[in-house]
Amino acid sequence: MDSTTRHILDLSRRGLLRGAAGLAALAAIAPARQAGAQQAFRTWPFTLGVASGDPAPDGFVLWTRLAPEPLTPDGGMPRVALPVTWEVAEDRGFARVAASGTAIARPELAHAVHVEVAGLNAARPYFYRFRSGTEVSRVGRARTAPAPGATPARLRFVTAGCQHFEHGHFTAWAHIAEEADLDFVFHYGDYIYEYRGRVPGQPGWGPRVRQHIGEETISLADYRLRYAQYRTDPDLQAAHAAHPFLPSYDDHEVDNNWAGPHSEEDGRGRHPVAVPPEVFALRKAAAFQAWYEHMPVRAAAIPRGPDITAYRRMDFGTLARVNVLDTRQFRDDQPCSDRNGQPCAEVPRPDAQMLGTTQEAWLLAGMTDSPARWNIMAQQIPMMRRLLRGGGIAMDKWDAYPAARQRLLDGMVDRRTPNPVVLSGDVHVALASTIRRRPEDAESTAVAVEFTATSATSEGDGADMTPAGEDTLRRNPDMVLYNARRGYCVSEATAAQMTTEFVTLPFVTREGAPRMTAATFTIEAGQVALRTGGG
Ligand SMILES: [Fe+2]
Repeated sequence: MDSTTRHILDLSRRGLLRGAAGLAALAAIAPARQAGAQQAFRTWPFTLGVASGDPAPDGFVLWTRLAPEPLTPDGGMPRVALPVTWEVAEDRGFARVAASGTAIARPELAHAVHVEVAGLNAARPYFYRFRSGTEVSRVGRARTAPAPGATPARLRFVTAGCQHFEHGHFTAWAHIAEEADLDFVFHYGDYIYEYRGRVPGQPGWGPRVRQHIGEETISLADYRLRYAQYRTDPDLQAAHAAHPFLPSYDDHEVDNNWAGPHSEEDGRGRHPVAVPPEVFALRKAAAFQAWYEHMPVRAAAIPRGPDITAYRRMDFGTLARVNVLDTRQFRDDQPCSDRNGQPCAEVPRPDAQMLGTTQEAWLLAGMTDSPARWNIMAQQIPMMRRLLRGGGIAMDKWDAYPAARQRLLDGMVDRRTPNPVVLSGDVHVALASTIRRRPEDAESTAVAVEFTATSATSEGDGADMTPAGEDTLRRNPDMVLYNARRGYCVSEATAAQMTTEFVTLPFVTREGAPRMTAATFTIEAGQVALRTGGG
């Protein structure tokens, strides 16, 4: 890799020692050189790549993290703040620099750097890179959003997530890196999985093609190391370098199936020993800090202890409004002790909360007089009606929060929100469905469409169809696709229609899987129906 060979100022050549003594030496010289940008690294510090995100008409967020030894505590960095310069150019060769500046990589944030670039031109690609001392990062490509009021010819985006590191290679990310002209990649979450490393031969969930380092993540150091391990993957780095991301999170960034203040271990059902909310709050604070540190998101998402504001809205001219939602932090605990099956008496509770009252009101306000042709809810869990085997429902999804879903659907209909489109993931299968005004009533009118992206790796190779899939399709007549392979979705919207391609991979337990198309669906603007095929 050119970047790792790009060079290294070896302190031992200067008579300094490697290891702890070398770090001490670096710590000693760094503060004195804050302004000079000549600090020495024993190895190349940009091992975790670069990223851009949250595009606006005049800029975007740029991200990197200094970590010369990414899989060691503190990433091999001394506990001092260091300057990192950044450049944004119109060309890959950086002949036409459009913006530049210096940011500070602070030890409090694991030497992550977040730059909110502004003042750029709308709707065009830019190239960026970072420099610290004599070291230079790889070049990334970002893209600004269209100007407010502009009507771009098209919007292209990917929906992806659920990337259990042990379950497969990140081939999906290699293919996403190669997708042409994306405006953004919506990452719905499960960017990391919190589970401990599974040693060879140990039984467990899913295949094991590589191993998490360490135990189940609980502390800030644990989560940082887990993100670093995932982010050392070259395919994931390539995708980040190629396109701006809209990052979100689901449950595994913290703990499986957490809900609001409740840990998965909530003292009910399968988890009789509870983790008290005030203790779980400490874990959430650590998890959110590490998420912020590793994602190209704005300073508004810096957590305040166990609280984080990750829901936000981005407009792409008059073509699309993207509402990135948080379906974990403000929801009620899952009903029925989170046991999938027949709904218990708790399910129809009239005050059920999935988004929480504040986010729900914010979302509906954004659905009122929206200037956009397509109003996208970029979120985590299936909103569609999805009856499982035996006719039961999944307690972690919108199906188990029917009153909350009904308020949202009624709200969109009342506001005549144009073309609502729901994006989701979480269930590790690809699904496409319409959502009816009253989802439990098969006779009511369809009011939205939903595309559920399958996992990038989670649960391994999979299959196009499974007995569970056949059963699901039989029970849910509005569902037009079920596919249990790994992959992602690519959507392209114009003023007239939106087409979504379900990309799948024949395998992920080996490297090099080709990109395949499982299905393509088109929605005509103004109609709530999924037509098979593109164009
Ligand atoms: Fe997942």
